[in-house]
Amino acid sequence: MSVAAEIDALETRSLAAIADLSSEADLERLRVEVLGRKGALTAILRGLKDAPPAERPAIGERANTAKRAIEDGLERALGELRARHAAERLAAERVDVTVPARGWPPGHRHPLRTATEDAVDIFERMGFEVWDGPEIEDDEHNFEALNFPPDHPARDMQDTFLLPDGKLLRTHCTPSQIHVMRTRKPPLAIITPGTTYRRDVHDMTHAPMFHQIDCFLVDEAVSFAEMKGLLTEFLTAFFGDVPVRFRASFFPFVEPGAEVDIGCAVCRGSDPACRVCKGAGWLEILGAGMIHPNVLRAVGYDPEAVSGFAFGVGLERLAMLRHAIDDIRLLTENDLRFLRQF
Ligand code: DAH
Repeated sequence: MSVAAEIDALETRSLAAIADLSSEADLERLRVEVLGRKGALTAILRGLKDAPPAERPAIGERANTAKRAIEDGLERALGELRARHAAERLAAERVDVTVPARGWPPGHRHPLRTATEDAVDIFERMGFEVWDGPEIEDDEHNFEALNFPPDHPARDMQDTFLLPDGKLLRTHCTPSQIHVMRTRKPPLAIITPGTTYRRDVHDMTHAPMFHQIDCFLVDEAVSFAEMKGLLTEFLTAFFGDVPVRFRASFFPFVEPGAEVDIGCAVCRGSDPACRVCKGAGWLEILGAGMIHPNVLRAVGYDPEAVSGFAFGVGLERLAMLRHAIDDIRLLTENDLRFLRQF
């Protein structure tokens, strides 16, 4: 076959192949096969030296037109392939903006958080200020300044998480009183909501981490009667109209000390088998008392000049009594069947 005829055949074959292309990768492969340095056209032109010299310019010219035709064909095919590809993607990834959104199931506040926020609200309305104390304490704040003597058995009442550096995780929120009173002067009306830790077994009524609000008021001539009034006010605001009773009790940092019970809202004292009060008709809800003179002295106050009351309430306990929840672990297990009830 003459060189010119070979060029004709190559052009025809190439243009036919171009018409059949289905991907850019195939197109690049074809470009290299036909027009590349080691491609078919170069191979044909190697035969040019065997052609009669007079015909060579015409053959060269023919090779150029064939090359241009093939290049044009490839260029056009590339444009078409890209356009087709884009159209296919658009069709495949089409978004139907009329489909209704899937939406998030609405969440809601956890019963412990609601109890905390409600309690804080009630105290804030009564003029108390919120103060956030440290969760890592030392022996001085957690025990010593609160009138727990070194070997006092009361220290065993609170099994403490000790840290390697001698500090500890606070076992109650009461140490916040020491921080505040050492930096400020009366009159003070403060609540300290926060997290507390004890090495308790995790059972129905105990958790190694729980929450309290301690509340204290210091001024000239503060009386126990004022505290009774305030606590009764708080408990009725929180629980509704419940009976409240005060019992003498002991905490090293108060004198006199008291425990406060509310009447069982579940059985109202009428069911000896009541799941919530165990038939007692009363539920212990908080510890309270007049701040001990030793505590006032430890913060540099004069117990002859000022007095104060303090009380501490467990927030899990508030939430559990409010909703008749009988197992504290339900509050941290995140079982949706439980949580959805609130
Ligand atoms: N800190 C005590 C506890 O965790 C509770 C308490 C009792 C707090 C009497 C007080 C108080 O402020 O006056 O068991």
